[in-house]
Amino acid sequence: MNGLKAEKVLLYRLIRVNIISEIVNLTKVVVWRLEGMIQQKKYGVVYTPNRLADFVASLIKNEAKQDKYYIQTILDPACGEGALLKAVKNIIEDCENFYGIDVDTEVIDNLSKKNEPKTTFICNDAILPKNVKVKTSTYWRRKLSVISAVIANPPWSSEKIYDDQRLEMAGFSLNAGQYDSYVLFLELAYQIVDEGGYFAFIIPDSLFDSQNEYLRRFLAEKTQIRVIARLGEKIFDEVNRATTVIVCRKAIPTDESVTMCFRLNTENRKQREHHNPNNAWLHSLRSF
Ligand SMILES: C[S@@+](CC[C@H](N)C(=O)[O-])C[C@H]1O[C@@H](n2cnc3c(N)ncnc32)[C@H](O)[C@@H]1O
Repeated sequence: MNGLKAEKVLLYRLIRVNIISEIVNLTKVVVWRLEGMIQQKKYGVVYTPNRLADFVASLIKNEAKQDKYYIQTILDPACGEGALLKAVKNIIEDCENFYGIDVDTEVIDNLSKKNEPKTTFICNDAILPKNVKVKTSTYWRRKLSVISAVIANPPWSSEKIYDDQRLEMAGFSLNAGQYDSYVLFLELAYQIVDEGGYFAFIIPDSLFDSQNEYLRRFLAEKTQIRVIARLGEKIFDEVNRATTVIVCRKAIPTDESVTMCFRLNTENRKQREHHNPNNAWLHSLRSF
């Protein structure tokens, strides 16, 4: 083989190697993206816009203020990138501890690196934590000790990712028949929050469907439902489901218990992109 021919062969091989490694890299990216999409679908990853996070945080603050209840710790059991915890930190300054749990390792790693004061992030499955033999609520109560309030935009997926028998052993009872994953998070919040504490949830309007009669009965009998805010559709860009915010106090309802209910009007719904600490949504709720 003369020199020129050898160079050509070498060049050809190099190009081939490059093309093959490019294809391998591209395949890795596609697989990685697909895995991400599957994970997103499985765990219902849609983060809360600031405006909605501020609104929900304000609702908890207002209820606690009204009851003269001191919020010592707040937990988001499906914290994602921490939008809701950030919102409560901004307005409930005297709170001593903020806890965030999420199954997503990457998200928790990133949040933990920020070393935020008074804040602890835990990577685990909030519903069935790994290697736990006791009931889920017992585990979290032991680990976190005080939980004055739970704030959450949990996954809404209807995909059943847990075995019913395991859920029962872990202390869940609302997972009968067809249910969305937020139902488990609501039951968990009720179980782990302190007596007299609050839980505020961003959930879909399926709360009002017939399949959720048992859940509604559970909340109506065991908690004081303080707020039901029906925000309608298009609150989240990626989700075409109507959204409701519900705030409950863990206390047996009395004859004096009042539930504030409202529907967001179209004009206020349009302002959703705008981040506004003096939340106009809250004003419409107050004026209801
Ligand atoms: C709808 S996103 C909301 C995230 C965040 N709370 C917010 O408002 O932006 C739901 C989050 O729940 C997490 N998640 C889903 N299933 C979970 C589980 N079993 N335990 C803990 N986190 C979970 C997902 O990884 C995702 O970050």
